[in-house]
Amino acid sequence: MRLPCLPLLATLVLAAPALPAATTVLRGPYLQTATPTSLVVRWRTDTTEGSFVRYGLTADALNQTAKAFGIGTEHIVQLSELLPGRRYFYSVMGSAENKDGDGKILRVPVYAFTTPPPTGPASPTRVWVLGDPGTKGATQLAVRDAYTKFAGDRTADLCLLLGDNAYPDGTDADYQKAIFEVYPEMLRTTPLWSTLGNHDGHSANSITQSGPYYDIFTFPTRAQAGGVASGTEAYYSFDYANIHFVCLDSHDTPRTPDGAMAQWLKADLAATTRDWIVAFFHHPTYTKGTHDSDREGRLVDMRQNFLPILEAGGVDLILTGHSHVYERSYLLDGHYGKSESFNATLHVKQPGNGRAGGDGVYRKPRGRAPHAGEISVVTGSAGSAGSKSKPPTLDHRAMWISLNEPGSVVLDLDGLRLDLTFINEKGEKRDSFTIEKN
Ligand SMILES: [Fe+2]
Repeated sequence: MRLPCLPLLATLVLAAPALPAATTVLRGPYLQTATPTSLVVRWRTDTTEGSFVRYGLTADALNQTAKAFGIGTEHIVQLSELLPGRRYFYSVMGSAENKDGDGKILRVPVYAFTTPPPTGPASPTRVWVLGDPGTKGATQLAVRDAYTKFAGDRTADLCLLLGDNAYPDGTDADYQKAIFEVYPEMLRTTPLWSTLGNHDGHSANSITQSGPYYDIFTFPTRAQAGGVASGTEAYYSFDYANIHFVCLDSHDTPRTPDGAMAQWLKADLAATTRDWIVAFFHHPTYTKGTHDSDREGRLVDMRQNFLPILEAGGVDLILTGHSHVYERSYLLDGHYGKSESFNATLHVKQPGNGRAGGDGVYRKPRGRAPHAGEISVVTGSAGSAGSKSKPPTLDHRAMWISLNEPGSVVLDLDGLRLDLTFINEKGEKRDSFTIEKN
């Protein structure tokens, strides 16, 4: 949902009924478009009421208030003039004093979030990456729990969803069951970002910016969080510390090489001065998992039309889903054909597994060096893996490792070092690599 230029609006109704005695929060709160100094808090209630967030730097002193005009059940409140890199405590309320119809002050839960650090300087950053999570099944829960146990006290600073977030159709009800009821604690504390998948696209339209996906999320269209303004929530960018994140829409926005998304991507990459560029979208450039990048149009488009732009712009890491497997490449560059045309001599910038205790970490020059190599990671198994009775071939030649296992990715960046780890649904660390910049 686009943010209006005016202060944030709740869903408006004309008549103002008396506040009920008690309200149930049905969804959230969840955190959107986080910047070092601002954040959007969203939630849904079962009854119509106002939209107020009380917040402060200590849990017992929520001495600041932000609000949206009007009353409704969908609440979107922007907090502004926050301090970067600080832990805030907050509560969501239906009125300024949160009194019930009898004037009694209601007790409300207090949650916490941490604002992103100042943009530019390095800051240790953890990202939890979930591809194709929303099956609503036992595997999704196992992947969630395995990550939670792995992470321990070092929780993520932000979460990326790689699309197909809520099966089967990305409807509001699908999102309720597959996202909001599965990750409630994470959503209250960790800003969430997403790209559109084909199942989300069953009920959403990127051209008109409509449908549940666009109603549920609030992403920057005006470069509020860094980067170049895209004018759309379908594709956008944002900064976190010394990292530039780029979200593309591989499903429903035209993927022509001279189209609006490609032109925006070129401008956005040219403008960034961050140390790292991480791109994420749904359809992989390389996969031989439950989908085949040699045969499927959207995957071919992303490889042929967008990968050259990303590589020329100095991309370091590409995260995709769609294929319900985990596949991770060598440090590579310049491969835009089918798997059979992959030539290690031509396309591998640095061979080996990228591990300090193995073949050695991948090394790249600091700064925006074009075609210095990226790692391609397909991680589309946060909700399920491919069939065991008819397993995928997993033989794409660009990949150093390919696994038909459920799991999720943990990305840790610290200064000029990037570590990526794949954790399966049993909590086993099944892959890792490091990129260091000199
Ligand atoms: Fe998909």
